[in-house]
Amino acid sequence: MNNFIKGLPKAELHLHIEGTLEPELMLEIAGRNGIKLPYESVEEIRNAYNFNSLQEFLDIYFDGMKVLIEEKDFYDLTTSYLEKAHSQSVRHVEIFFDPQAHTARGINFETVINGIDNALLDGEKKFGITYKIIMCFLRHLDQNDAFKTLEMAIPFKEKIIGVGLDSSEKGHPPSKFKDVFLKAREEEFVTVAHAGEEGPSEYIREAIELLDVKRIDHGIAILNDLELTKYVAEKRIALTVCPLSNLKLKVVDHIDKHPLPEMLAKGLVITINSDDPSYFGGYINENYEAVQKTFGLGVETLAGLAKNSFNSAFINDEMKIRLCSEIDEYINNFE
Ligand code: HPA
Ligand code: ZN
Repeated sequence: MNNFIKGLPKAELHLHIEGTLEPELMLEIAGRNGIKLPYESVEEIRNAYNFNSLQEFLDIYFDGMKVLIEEKDFYDLTTSYLEKAHSQSVRHVEIFFDPQAHTARGINFETVINGIDNALLDGEKKFGITYKIIMCFLRHLDQNDAFKTLEMAIPFKEKIIGVGLDSSEKGHPPSKFKDVFLKAREEEFVTVAHAGEEGPSEYIREAIELLDVKRIDHGIAILNDLELTKYVAEKRIALTVCPLSNLKLKVVDHIDKHPLPEMLAKGLVITINSDDPSYFGGYINENYEAVQKTFGLGVETLAGLAKNSFNSAFINDEMKIRLCSEIDEYINNFE
């Protein structure tokens, strides 16, 4: 089944570009930028990746990305992700970036967006991977900071399809960002939000009702609210689920405790994604493989998950149909 997953055309809809920074590249970029890291080797870095919570991960994640200074650093980071994505049959990607984590260190918004966007542009030419960019607000910061970030993004509107919400979830509900999301919608950004990862199902409800999100990132707490589950399933609001992330951050104790089977049984639109693959021990295919193996998912379910990824992407219907037919063709030719 791993061979089937390997060649299965798919989209990745929940991917933080800063979370793709592999230790090798971190050391290389630190070296050329003259940055002293608290680690000497790739092994030491990997050994530090043991997390008991989202916050423990975030501390290391924000620290690691401090090596990114120049436009070329963001370009190289994104290019190296695209090479990996191409090798895993990713046809379309919608990537998150965290501007505030960079502007707070004195890096210009422009440096970040241009580095990422140029790499995606070149990656599309080279690999045929189409893309969208989503800018996330850090929810541990205040709404005012998010407003300032939105202002910075407006001149780059053509390059950014939407806004999202990430970082420390507990104690930072979607309602805290109601006004800035309204302003973003007025500026014609689509909206998404991390909700129900470590936080309660109530945050998922808020994200839908107050932020008008078109997808929920993670959302695995949804099953605690049956009425909401029914609503989200009926409205076909997709959830971007990241199984290895949930395991690594101890949101679930064991992969076989993951709520994915029940979420599928409730008719929710589920997509499988990698979140921060460098930190969580696997890219998108390793995430598909983990749930396939644990829950014995068959070809039809896997293909359904991949079709969900295309159908829930921020692309036009013509593209959705073309990409989904690539899946059908793949299945027909698969031995
Ligand atoms: N949750 C919240 N914020 C994040 C994550 C996540 O999984 N990854 C990167 N920022
Ligand atoms: Zn995430």
